[in-house]
Amino acid sequence: MRNPLLPPDLHTTERPSSTAQWTALGRALELERPPGERIVTDEYAPVFLSPSSRALLAPLRVGRPLVQLAERHPLAGISAFGLCRHRFIDEHLSAALADPETEQVLILGAGYDSRAYRFADELEGRPVYEVDLPPLSRRKAEIVAAQPARFAGNRINRVEIDFRTDSLAERLGESRFAIGARTFVAWEGVSMYLSHPAVADTLDTLGEVCGPGSTLAMDFWHRLPGVGPRAAVRRLGARAIALIGEPVTFGVAPADVAGFLDVHGFAVVDLVRSRELAARYSTGGRPCEESVYVLAARL
Ligand SMILES: C[S@@+](CC[C@H](N)C(=O)[O-])C[C@H]1O[C@@H](n2cnc3c(N)ncnc32)[C@H](O)[C@@H]1O
Repeated sequence: MRNPLLPPDLHTTERPSSTAQWTALGRALELERPPGERIVTDEYAPVFLSPSSRALLAPLRVGRPLVQLAERHPLAGISAFGLCRHRFIDEHLSAALADPETEQVLILGAGYDSRAYRFADELEGRPVYEVDLPPLSRRKAEIVAAQPARFAGNRINRVEIDFRTDSLAERLGESRFAIGARTFVAWEGVSMYLSHPAVADTLDTLGEVCGPGSTLAMDFWHRLPGVGPRAAVRRLGARAIALIGEPVTFGVAPADVAGFLDVHGFAVVDLVRSRELAARYSTGGRPCEESVYVLAARL
């Protein structure tokens, strides 16, 4: 039963996801750093910001020294994690696109993901399927349609879905998605907001609709063991996301994830936990949050 003290759940409202705004805001803020100090460069991120996110940019710019200091604290590692996760998926996407047998890209819970534009050259006309809840998907489509010059020339197919109640196989079947073709799938920042059956069903569907050699790049949350103030703050942080109507509801420990994915036909090829993720991609001494990790897996 819904807690009456919390705002309505994202899935029962007509509002686009707030967490998708946060990740876009994180990428927009990263553009304020000199190119050589960025974890990721997403020139499109500012275009998708809502008026309230845009209003945050100016004070964050003024307070930059303080923000950069705060970002070095282990408990503030979620912003660096979001950026490193994006970079990790970018690199796996680049590798998949270098393979001529990769025919298409599927982005689940796409939010304001701009890979269809940032990777336009490497895509060489291969289609991108962006899947998300209708309010987010429509808002993004309106922004893109309003700026045809900026977003020109890409083969993007918008697919509306609620992973919790709709069939991904059906939704993809209604689009031009090539069933059985080698596909690169990004599922970034979404699994933690779903139920176990919704994650399992989506993985099963991916196993059915994507061809052999397809790659899935995604992240998982897990409850960190341990006691003490840091563990308590982390647990509180995960619970606090419910305050914006997007509660964290699903997790798998890194030690169990290979078995979890194997059941659905995926073999893990690259699993990166927070320390290694920060070592690979982070700049400015920014650590990555420990309760989340990324992986790439192959069908
Ligand atoms: C944290 S955002 C991540 C957005 C994007 N992947 C990124 O990394 O910037 C989570 C995304 O998942 C989508 N989402 C959450 N629950 C969903 C569901 N049940 N069905 C489809 N999309 C969902 C939200 O609309 C949102 O765009």
